[in-house]
Parts: sequence; C-alpha cells; structure tokens
Amino acid sequence: MRRLNGFRATLLGALAFAAAASAVQLPPPIELPKPKLDNTTTLIQALKARKTGREFAPDALPLQTLSDLLWAAFGVNRDDGRRTAPSAKNWQEIDIYVALPQGVYLFDGKAHALVGVVAGNLRAATGMQAFVKDAPASLVFVADLARMKDASAADRDLYSATDAAFISQNVYLYCAAAGLTTGVRGYVDRPALAKAFGLRGDQRIILAQSVGYPKK
Ligand SMILES: Cc1cc2nc3c(=O)[nH]c(=O)nc-3n(C[C@H](O)[C@H](O)[C@H](O)COP(=O)(O)O)c2cc1C
Repeated sequence: MRRLNGFRATLLGALAFAAAASAVQLPPPIELPKPKLDNTTTLIQALKARKTGREFAPDALPLQTLSDLLWAAFGVNRDDGRRTAPSAKNWQEIDIYVALPQGVYLFDGKAHALVGVVAGNLRAATGMQAFVKDAPASLVFVADLARMKDASAADRDLYSATDAAFISQNVYLYCAAAGLTTGVRGYVDRPALAKAFGLRGDQRIILAQSVGYPKK
C-alpha cells in the first residue's frame, strides 16, 4: 500500500511538472543574419542626431536591422569575445532581452542569435508610459549579478548601472545613424516585468529602451 501511495505521488508530481512545462510557451529561436556593418554615417553626424524619441510608426524592424542594432548594442567585436560596449572587469553581465510583437527573446551575443524566453506580446509590460506599447522592439537591460563575482553590493549596483548605460548609448548612436527612433527608460515596473520574463532572483532589471521607426 505504501509503495502504491509512493507511486501515485510520483505520478502526480510528474503530471504537475508536465502541466507546468506545457504552460511555459517558448517562442522558436530567431536566426539573425550576419550584421551588415556598412553604414556610412560618421560618428559626428550620429552624435548630432542623437536624441530621445517617444513616438513610433507601427512598422516592424526587419531582421537585418535587428541584427545590426544588437551587434552595435553589445555584439562581439573582437576575436577574444569582447564586446562593442565595455563592462567592469569584462564581466559582460548585462543581458539584452528583446520584446517583439510575437515574444520575448534573449540576445546571445556570442552566437549572434535570439533565444526564445516567453511567447506573446509583452512590449507594454516593459514600461509605464503609454507610448511603450507602440514601439516594435523594446530592449530590456538585465544584469546577471551571478556574473559579478566577488563584487560588493555597492559595486554591483554601480557597475551594473554604468555597464547598461554604455549599451544604451550604443543603441542611441546606432539608431541615430540608421534613421531609427529610440528612448531609454527607467520608469519600469521592475517586479512585474521580472515576473513576466521569468527572471531569477539574482537578475536585476536596469533600464529599458524602445526602438522603432519615427512616426510619419
Ligand atoms: C537613466 C535614464 C532614465 C530615463 N528614463 C526615462 C523614462 O522612464 N521615460 C522617458 O520617457 N524618458 C526617460 N529618459 C530619457 C530622458 O528623459 C532624456 O534623455 C532627457 O530628457 C534628455 O533628452 P535627450 O535624450 O533627447 O537628450 C531617461 C534617461 C536616462 C539617462
């Protein structure tokens, strides 16, 4: 009898696990094309054009643009795996989550690919302002505190914020050079977004950034 109860408990556990697993829908991965690094805008032109925008046309970002944007943001730019933005102690602790109309993805800089995280349109959840839902892509910069080995709590706070800011400025400059609109955002309901993205306790949302085409 005891053995039967044990079997039943195991079966119930397995069924509960299967139900939970099927509830989490992962969007299929997106293969990004190789970044096309032939934009001829000068750095000075991009700096002159850099600004925060909050009005977006509904057009989706083509995959090539998404690829170029993410490479500029925090892609690998050297053979040793280092990136377009610096990071304290080369921790590379900032992950870029990308909320698109069909789902949320994690940018894998090394593979230059987008890995599915959550299916569905969670763009509105990445901010607390009305325009946030209109941008075709919302980037969310998330620090993985587990990668900041041996850092004090104060250093984790300081460096995760600075490292995310470098990435944000790369996004600003890429957008200025590519004729896109972008705006970085700190006004985010972090606990709600962490839950929606299924983040771990040692991941911290730093900033979000909307990207899209200017409204006509
Ligand atoms: C850390 C940080 C947080 C920001 N948070 C928001 C925000 O939540 N919402 C928003 O609309 N703009 C936000 N901004 C954008 C600023 O309002 C904007 O950069 C500022 O008004 C200067 O405008 P400019 O970027 O066009 O020079 C933020 C900027 C920074 C640097």
